[in-house]
Amino acid sequence: MVSLHFVDPDGSDLPAWEPGAHLDLVLPSGLVRQYSLCGRAADRKSYRVAILLEEKGRGGSQEVHGTGLVGRVLEAHGPKNHFELADAESYLFLAGGIGITPILPMIERAVDLGIPWKLSYGAKSSAHMSFLGQLGEMKGGELDLVPQDVRGLMDIRSILADADPNALVYGCGPEPMLHALEEITDSFGMRSRLRLERFGAVTKRIDPETGYRDTGFEVELRSSGIVLYVPPDRSVLSVVRDVLPDVLSSCEEGYCGTCETLVLSGTPDHRDSILSDAEHSGGEIMMICVSRSRSDRLVLDL
Ligand code: FES
Repeated sequence: MVSLHFVDPDGSDLPAWEPGAHLDLVLPSGLVRQYSLCGRAADRKSYRVAILLEEKGRGGSQEVHGTGLVGRVLEAHGPKNHFELADAESYLFLAGGIGITPILPMIERAVDLGIPWKLSYGAKSSAHMSFLGQLGEMKGGELDLVPQDVRGLMDIRSILADADPNALVYGCGPEPMLHALEEITDSFGMRSRLRLERFGAVTKRIDPETGYRDTGFEVELRSSGIVLYVPPDRSVLSVVRDVLPDVLSSCEEGYCGTCETLVLSGTPDHRDSILSDAEHSGGEIMMICVSRSRSDRLVLDL
C-alpha cells in the first residue's frame, strides 16, 4: 500500500471535502481512477489517498505503484461524494482491506463530534491492515480488529446483532462482504440504516432479462443539439464518445461515479450501483456507462 499526498501546485487551498469523498485521478497513462480521501477533511492544503497494489486489478494500482509520481503534476477531478456521513446517534463501521480508506475520516469526524462509534476492520492478517497507529489513537469508540489468519472472516451477523439499534452502519470492502451486509441487514430489518461504498460492479443491478439487448433510444446533447441514436448493443457512453471523445469515465461498470451526467429531460433506466434509490427516482443524474433510457429520448447536459 502506498499513501500519496497531493497539494495545489500554486500552494492554494484545495477544494473542501467531507468524509466519504473521493478524487478522480487521471494517471499519466490517461487511466482515470477513484481514490477515497483518507486525510483530515480540515486540512485544506493537502489531500491524502492510499492505494493498494492489486496484481489482478485493471492496471491503475500497478501504474501508481510502478511510476515515480512524486513531484509530478496530475490532473484530478472532484472531490465527489457518494458515501456521505449522515447525522446519527452512533456509528457502526465495517471495513474490509483497503476499504478502510473512506472510513478513516468518518471516524475522525465522529471523534470530533463526540459521537460513539465502533469499527470492525477485517484483512488477511494484521500486516495487511493500514493506519493501525492512527486508529489506535481515536477516542470515544471501539476498535475490533479481525485478522483473517487468526480470527477468520468477520462475523457480520454477530456484529450486527450486537449493534446499537440506533446506529447508522457504513461498510466498505470487497464485494462478498458488502453483499453479506446487504443480506444480513435485510434479514434484521435494518437495511435502511446501511450505507455502502463499492469498489466493484454489482451485476445483479443490471436487468438480467434485457441487459444491453433492449431497445435503442435517442440521446440529445445539450451543448450542440446533436441527437445520437443509442442502439441496443451499445452504451450511452460509447455513443457519446463518437462525438465527444474526452468524456470522462473509469470503471465503466456503474460503480465509480466518474461518468455522472445531468439529465435535462427524459427518464433514465438506472443500472448503476452508486446512486441512492432517491437519486434513481429523482432522475436528474445518471451514470451513462451502464444506464439506459425508459423514454424515447434523453436530453443530457453534455
Ligand atoms: S465510469 Fe464508473 S460509473 Fe460510469
